[in-house]
Amino acid sequence: MEEKRGLYLPAARPNRRGRSIMLLMMLCFAGYTVWWAVSSPAVVPRPHGPDTVVPHPSTPEVQKQLEPADRKLVPLEAHIMSKCPDARDCLRDMILPAMIHVHEKVNWTLSFIGTPTKNDGVDCRHGPDECMGNIIELCAAKLYPDPKINLGFTMCITRDWRNIPKRDLIEACALEHAIDFQALNDCAIKEDGAYGVGMLRDSVTRSTEAGVKLSCTVRLNEEVYCIRDGGEWKDCPHGPGVNDLVMNIEKLYQRPA
Ligand SMILES: *[C@@H]1O[C@H](CO)[C@@H](O)[C@H](O)[C@H]1NC(C)=O
Repeated sequence: MEEKRGLYLPAARPNRRGRSIMLLMMLCFAGYTVWWAVSSPAVVPRPHGPDTVVPHPSTPEVQKQLEPADRKLVPLEAHIMSKCPDARDCLRDMILPAMIHVHEKVNWTLSFIGTPTKNDGVDCRHGPDECMGNIIELCAAKLYPDPKINLGFTMCITRDWRNIPKRDLIEACALEHAIDFQALNDCAIKEDGAYGVGMLRDSVTRSTEAGVKLSCTVRLNEEVYCIRDGGEWKDCPHGPGVNDLVMNIEKLYQRPA
C-alpha cells in the first residue's frame, strides 16, 4: 500500500443508530439538491470508455470448447480495499484484461479487506469513506451479478479512488455502466445501512478466513495467485501477465469434472 497515512483511521465506533446516521450523512452530501436525477438505465447510452469491459462476440472456436453442462466455473477472486491504488492497478492491469477473454469460464468474486468490530460494524483501513466505497461496490455486484457490469463499474470508480464515495463519481460511473443509481443508493442505505454493513462484514470475514491481508490479493481456484502491494507485484509464481492468468484459467476450466 502506498497510502500508509492514517492507519486504521477513526476508530469511531458508533452504535448501530449512530452508524446509520453516519452512513446516511455520507450519502447525502451537503450541496446536492437533486439526489436522484438518473433516468431509466434502459435509455442510458453506454459508451465504451477505456474501463468498460467490452463484451466480445464468441468465436466459433471458443463456442466449440465450451461445454457448460459438464464444466465447472473456475473461482477467481480479488480481495481489495476500495480506496487503494493497488486495487486499481490489479483490476486495471490484470483482472479486467483477463476477464475479457475468460468471463464465461470464471466464477468471479470481489471481496474486501477490513476488520469486523464488536458492535456489528466494520473498520476500514482508509476510514468510513472506504467502508462506504466497499459497500457501494458490493451493492453493484448484488444488483448486477454480470461481471461485465459490476466489474466495469468498480473499475470506473477505482481509477478515481481518491474521490470514493463522492456522489459525482458514483453517479458518473453508474451512468457509464447502465447501473440504476437510485437502486444502488437504496441498497447502500437499506435498513438504515445495516444491510450494506452486513454484506461488508460477510465479505471481510471471507477474506480473513482465506488468510488474506493485502490489497490487492488475487486468488485463483482458492489459492493465492498474485499480490499487488505497494505498487509492485509480489508472490506471483506464474508472473503477473494477463496471458498467463488466462492460460491458467483455461487449464483449470478444461480439467475433467
Ligand atoms: C461462486 O462462488 C461462490 C463463492 O464461493 C459460491 O457461493 C457460488 O456457489 C459459486 N457459483 C457458481 C455458479 O459456481
